[in-house]
Amino acid sequence: MKYFFHIFGCQMNEADAEVLAGFLVNMGYSEATTEAEADIILLITCCVREHAESRVYGKLGELARLKQEKPALIIGISGCMPQQDDVAKSLRAKFPYLDLIFGTHNLPDFPRLLEEVQAGGSQVLAVLDEAGEVREDLPRLRQDGLKAWVTIMYGCNNYCTYCIVPYVRGRERSRSLDAIVAEVRALAEHGCREVTLLGQNVNSYGRDLAPLVRVDFADLLTAIGKVPGVARVRFMTSHPRDFSDKLIAAAANTPAVCEHFHLPVQSGSNAVLARMNRGYTREAYLALVQRLRSRVPHAAITTDIIVGFPGETEQDFADTLALVREVGFDSVFAFAYSARSGTPAADYAEHLQKPEKSMRLKQLIETANAIALERNQKLANQVVEVLVEGPSKTNPDRLTGRTRTNKLVHINNEPDLVGKLLDVRITKVQTFSLLGERVGVGR
Ligand code: 5AD
Ligand code: SF4
Repeated sequence: MKYFFHIFGCQMNEADAEVLAGFLVNMGYSEATTEAEADIILLITCCVREHAESRVYGKLGELARLKQEKPALIIGISGCMPQQDDVAKSLRAKFPYLDLIFGTHNLPDFPRLLEEVQAGGSQVLAVLDEAGEVREDLPRLRQDGLKAWVTIMYGCNNYCTYCIVPYVRGRERSRSLDAIVAEVRALAEHGCREVTLLGQNVNSYGRDLAPLVRVDFADLLTAIGKVPGVARVRFMTSHPRDFSDKLIAAAANTPAVCEHFHLPVQSGSNAVLARMNRGYTREAYLALVQRLRSRVPHAAITTDIIVGFPGETEQDFADTLALVREVGFDSVFAFAYSARSGTPAADYAEHLQKPEKSMRLKQLIETANAIALERNQKLANQVVEVLVEGPSKTNPDRLTGRTRTNKLVHINNEPDLVGKLLDVRITKVQTFSLLGERVGVGR
C-alpha cells in the first residue's frame, strides 16, 4: 500500500506531512513515487491567499479522473482549508469523491479516521474547533538527514487583520524546552547539522507556559546552541514587534545561530501598518534592523511584504519601496493582498483593483531584485562557508548548498563533499544564486 502527498503552503504543512507520513508508515504504507501508483492521496492545504486555494481546487479537479479510473483510491484533504468549518462542508458537497476531510487540529486522529474510511465510511469529516494539548507522542517520518525543521510552537495570537492563520492554526501553544532540546539532540546524533526552529511567531515562544515555566525564545536559542554537532541554527518566523534586545544578544552570542534573519515588515507605511494591526512603526522596524546589524554585522535580512492592502495609497506604496531600499533586503517575498473571508481587512473599504495590485507587485519585485543583486555583489571573491546539500536538480555536474546567510551556492560536483561545511570562494553572483569554487576539503 502506497501513499502520495500534495503539500501546499508553508513549513507547518511540511511538518504536518511528516507526522501523517509517520502514521502511514506505522500502518504499513510506503511512499509512492508517482500519484498513479498511490492507494491513498492526501492534499495538505493552505488558505493564506486565494492563489494557494485555487491550486488546491485545480488539483481536486484533476483527481476526479484518477478516482474514476481507480475507485478504490482513497483521497483525503487536510490542512488549513478544511480547518474552516464552512470550507470543509463546501468541499464535502462539491467533491463527492473526497473520502476524508479533516482539519489541522485533527492531525492526531488521522489513523482512526483513515480506518473509518477503510471500513467503508464515506466522506468522513472531522473538524475540531479548538486545538488540543501539544502532543509529543506523534510519529514523524523525516525527509532529510542533513537539515531539519523543528516546530517549537503552534498557532498565533497576533490577529494581523489580513491573516487567516490564527483562525486555522489556533492560539499559541509552546512545546517544552526539554522536549525541543531532546529532539534536536536526537537529530544531531543522526547526522543533522542544521536545524530551523519553526513557529508562526517564534519570538513569543514560552509566553503561554508562564507562570508555571518561565522561559523565552532567547533562552531556547541559547540552549539549542549548546547541542553538540549542530553547526547551524535558523529560526522563522519572527515578529518585529517581539524581537527583544535579549534575543539579539542571544543570537549574536550563540555561534551556531546563522547570520540570517527573516523579519516580515509587510508594509513601509505607518498608516497601513496600523490598519494591519502589526504593532510597530516603520521607524521602530528600521531601528530594530540597525540594532541587529550593529550586533551581527554581516547579517542577511529578508522579509515578507504585502502590496495593495485595502486603502493603500500611491504614497503608502512609495513608502514601502523606500523602506526596501533603506534596509537593503537580501530577499523579499512579495505578495498581492488577497482578501480572506472572516478576517477584518476583508471588510475594510477601498479594496484595490487587481491590475493595480499586480502593477505594484511587479514594481516591488523589480526593486527588490535589483537590491538583492547588489547585496550579492558584495560577496564576489569572498570566501564563505557552505553546507553542501547534494547535486543540483538542474545540473548534476554541480553541487548545491547554502551560506550561513541562506544564499544558494553552486560548486563543481566532486565526491565526498555532501554533508560537509565547505569554504567556498564566490566566483560569480546572480540575483538568486551564487557560483563558487571549493577552498580546502571541508569539515
Ligand atoms: N494576502 C496576501 N498575503 C498574505 N500573507 C498573509 N496573509 C495574506 C493575505 N491575506 C503573507 C504575509 C505573511 C506571508 C506568510 O503571507 O506577508 O508574512
Ligand atoms: Fe498571520 Fe500576523 Fe500571525 Fe504572521 S503574525 S501568522 S501574519 S496573524
